[in-house]
Amino acid sequence: MLSEERLTQCLEVALAAANKAGALIKECIDLRASKPLEIEEKSSSADMVTQYDKKCEDIVLEMLRAFDPSFEILSEESNPDTPFTANPTWIVDPIDGTTSFVHGSFDCGVSIGLAVGKEPVLGVVVLPLMQEVFTAVKGRGSFCNGRRIHVSNCTDLKRAIVCTHTMYRRTPEAIEALLNINRELLSVPVHAVRSYGSAAMDMCSVAMGRIDLYFEVGIQAWDMCAATIIVREAGGHVRNSDDVANAVPLDITSKGMCCAANPALADFAAALVVKHNYRNAILN
Ligand code: IPD
Ligand code: CA
Repeated sequence: MLSEERLTQCLEVALAAANKAGALIKECIDLRASKPLEIEEKSSSADMVTQYDKKCEDIVLEMLRAFDPSFEILSEESNPDTPFTANPTWIVDPIDGTTSFVHGSFDCGVSIGLAVGKEPVLGVVVLPLMQEVFTAVKGRGSFCNGRRIHVSNCTDLKRAIVCTHTMYRRTPEAIEALLNINRELLSVPVHAVRSYGSAAMDMCSVAMGRIDLYFEVGIQAWDMCAATIIVREAGGHVRNSDDVANAVPLDITSKGMCCAANPALADFAAALVVKHNYRNAILN
C-alpha cells in the first residue's frame, strides 16, 4: 500500500492532469464549429474515438509518467491491454462519454483512478461542462468541488431515480435485455429511468445523491475505477453486476457493475441483471 503522504501526492497529480484534459474538452465543445472532429468508429458506429480522446490521453499520461514512471498504466486509447496486477496502476479514461462529446453534450469528462492490490484507492472525475470536480481517497471521504458529498438515503425503489445506459452492442438479444430491464423498472414504478452518456458521471451522481441506482454491463475498468472509490467514500455501494448475494469482491475488470446508494437497491439491480440474462446478451 502507498503511504498517506504518497496518496496525497497522487491526488495532486491526478487532479492537475484531469483538470488540464478537462479544459481541452470544454474548449473543444465551446469552439466545436471551428474545431472539426476526426471521428473513427471502434466496435460499432455508436462506439467512437476522436483526435481529442487521444490528445487528452497524451496530456494525462505525460503528467502521470513524469510523476512516477514505476506505476502501471491502463488507459482506454493507448494501453487498453495492460495486464491488471496488484502493482499501483493508473486507470485512465481521457474522455468518458465520447458520444456525448461528439454531440457537444454536457455528460462527458475525464476519469483517473488509482488501483493498488487491484482495488480502487483514489479517484478523480472532472466534468468540465458541469463544472464539477469529484475526488476521493480511500478513508478520506468523497468531495465535489471541495465539498463533502454523500449518497441519498433512498431505500424504496418506488422513490428512486435509476440510470441504465444504451450499450454499444445492438444485437437483438442485447436490445431485448435492455428493454426488458427498463420495462420492469418503469412498472415498479420508479420515479424515473434516465440515460446519460458517461458511466463516471452517473456513478458520481450516485455518490452525490442525485441518482440512487445505476447499473450497466459492457463497461470497462477505465469507466468505473475512479468513480468506484468516489461512490464508496460517499457511503455508497458498488458490486459486480450479477452478484445478487453480494458474495464476492468487486472486480473492476469484470465489465459490469451495480452502483447504488445502498446494498438493497443493488440487490434489486443484480437480480434484474440475472433475470434478463443481461450479461450474456451484452458480452457473448
Ligand atoms: C462509455 C460511457 C457510457 C457507457 C459505456 C462506456 P466511453 O465510455 O461511459 O456511458 O455506457 O459503457 O464505454 O466509450 O465514452 O469512454
Ligand atoms: Ca473514453
